[in-house]
Amino acid sequence: MLQDTQITLLGAGRLGEALLRGLLDTGAVSRTLLRASVASTERAQYLTQRYSIDTAAGSNAAAVSGADIVIIAVKPAKVGSVLREIRPVLRPSQVIVSLAAAVRLRLIEAQLQPSTPIVRAMPNIAMALRQSATALCPNAAVTDEQRTLVASVFRLVGEVAFVEEEAIDGVTALAGSGPALIFYLLEALAEGGRRAGVSGPVADALARQTLLGAARLALETEVSPSEWIEQVKTPAGTTIAGLEVLERDGVRQALIEAVTAAARRARDIADELEAELETELET
Ligand SMILES: NC(=O)c1ccc[n+]([C@@H]2O[C@H](COP(=O)([O-])OP(=O)(O)OC[C@H]3O[C@@H](n4cnc5c(N)ncnc54)[C@H](OP(=O)(O)O)[C@@H]3O)[C@@H](O)[C@H]2O)c1
Repeated sequence: MLQDTQITLLGAGRLGEALLRGLLDTGAVSRTLLRASVASTERAQYLTQRYSIDTAAGSNAAAVSGADIVIIAVKPAKVGSVLREIRPVLRPSQVIVSLAAAVRLRLIEAQLQPSTPIVRAMPNIAMALRQSATALCPNAAVTDEQRTLVASVFRLVGEVAFVEEEAIDGVTALAGSGPALIFYLLEALAEGGRRAGVSGPVADALARQTLLGAARLALETEVSPSEWIEQVKTPAGTTIAGLEVLERDGVRQALIEAVTAAARRARDIADELEAELETELET
């Protein structure tokens, strides 16, 4: 299905490049069918050289021409201006996919023709290694075929779930910001190893492999995390000594609150962006 699909990426910074890299690594997407548009010529040159794809600076409208899927990966505050740039040249069959955190479907819809098919997507940076956890939320104009097509693109770079838009701020916090929370824990785990006498590089390597092993056990078995904890800990053993400190110091609660705070921030930014758009439309 994807063999003939032309994909254009508007914005290719950290997240956009992760998507490019992941898609190209599959071999399922041809370089000739991928195109990117960025702000600076330096970035365009880098992407052209690194990935051998057609990349240009400052020409979003031209980049959209011929695309089946137009993926927007600019910062949330720039989404409005990018949409205004491409609106005159968009065809009804082209699907817009927005990766921008906190930009609601209705905000995108307000800037385009009412019948434009739009998918709000929330992937994460692990697309680079084809391990993203991506949530997709299509608007009412998206056909079943387009829904399948967009899902097949994101399945190439990880797992995909369809969600209602009410859940997207939560997904942004859990899966979008989630890698940063995990890296934070990873550093703390390695530091604990160092303080317990493991040398620096060895502690880093052990912490990373331990995280990978635990993640694969959680993903690839039917055993729940609590059941795995039971399998690792023994009464009065070493694991329970560590777990007791996590409970005592409120680490579980802190993580829950971290995700809640990130989701709240996503909602607040979405409200701010909507208020800005309303002001723009009034003036
Ligand atoms: N980073 C994450 O982990 C993550 C996770 C989930 C969602 N997101 C969402 O993904 C989007 C991109 O985030 P990011 O971290 O990748 O940002 P970023 O690294 O700052 O990348 C933004 C990209 O947009 C380009 N750009 C800026 N203005 C443009 C314009 N008018 N037309 C075309 N391209 C333009 C920039 O070009 P230059 O490089 O030339 O300046 C850059 O390539 C954001 O909306 C964010 O909410 C990010």
